[in-house]
Amino acid sequence: MNDKITKIKKEIDGYLIESKQHLEDFRIKFLGSKSVVKQLFGELKSVPNEEKRTVGQLLNGLREFAQGTFDKAQENLADNQGESQKIDLSRPADQIEIGARHPLSIVRSEIIEIFSRIGFSVSEGPEIEDDWHNFSALNFPPEHPARDMQDTFFIEKGEEEIALRTHTSSVQVRVMENSKPPIRTISPGRVYRNEAISARAHCFFHQVEGLYIDKNVSFADLKQTLLYFAKEMFGEKAQIRLRPSYFPFTEPSAEVDISCTICSGKGCNVCKYSGWLEILGCGMVDPNVLEASNIDSKEFTGFAFGMGVERIAQLKYRVNDLRLYSENDLRFLKQFTPEM
Ligand code: DAH
Repeated sequence: MNDKITKIKKEIDGYLIESKQHLEDFRIKFLGSKSVVKQLFGELKSVPNEEKRTVGQLLNGLREFAQGTFDKAQENLADNQGESQKIDLSRPADQIEIGARHPLSIVRSEIIEIFSRIGFSVSEGPEIEDDWHNFSALNFPPEHPARDMQDTFFIEKGEEEIALRTHTSSVQVRVMENSKPPIRTISPGRVYRNEAISARAHCFFHQVEGLYIDKNVSFADLKQTLLYFAKEMFGEKAQIRLRPSYFPFTEPSAEVDISCTICSGKGCNVCKYSGWLEILGCGMVDPNVLEASNIDSKEFTGFAFGMGVERIAQLKYRVNDLRLYSENDLRFLKQFTPEM
């Protein structure tokens, strides 16, 4: 009897239970009404009386061992099944949507990249600006119309006038005040004007300002730098022309046109049959502007230019309505390839 008990115990110990079916087989074999353990209980009758007690104890132990093994295996199986229902390792992963860069960010990066190749650094200034940096230091006369409420969003009027900057030329002044020539920098940023919003005008837009100050900087340097920019931005065939213009902070001043990117100068409805498209304003920094920032205008000369980022993006991507840039319509934004 003892041998039989030991043998069954070993069998239980080595029994592999990996599925519900195994568990059921185990139950029938060791715990059911016709199980080997039950049979041994039946055989207890024929055990001599003086041994009955010990054998009975051994049999009880065997039954508890079988029950314990069964319970543990059942618990393990339930756990495993729960896990496998939670995680299906064969399921395909969810798609990750990669956003596209905003067209204005793409164009701004490209402008920075083009000028950084010829030694221009990037500088930035505040969007809330005082009168000195936005107007006075740039040689705007007190009665200049750009100072008018109609063009400028004022935050504080009166003795100290604070406004949203109307152009990035204010950053020129800050750079000149804080560094010594040679200065070669571009300043990208957002600017604000008090305009009614339409396809062709907006109350905020983006500019990139350029400033180069050194000994002997000439108008020829300005023209060559802008031709280089036009070719890098719009292709080798791009041409530029300069028309005389006026800005308070440059003398002489010019407006720059690029040969039409659609018809290459032959004439079409985009360039209004002129063959040319305006892209920026520029000029030689007025000596008054240099002096206002404590730069000796007898020793140094310089050029400056300012362009609208929306305008360049419009020519590059044929976007003819300024409002699209800030409406966040995904159908518009998704069209610009992400740059990784
Ligand atoms: N600040 C001018 C504007 O907002 C653009 C400009 C013109 C900037 C000529 C310059 C410049 O630096 O030289 O319209």
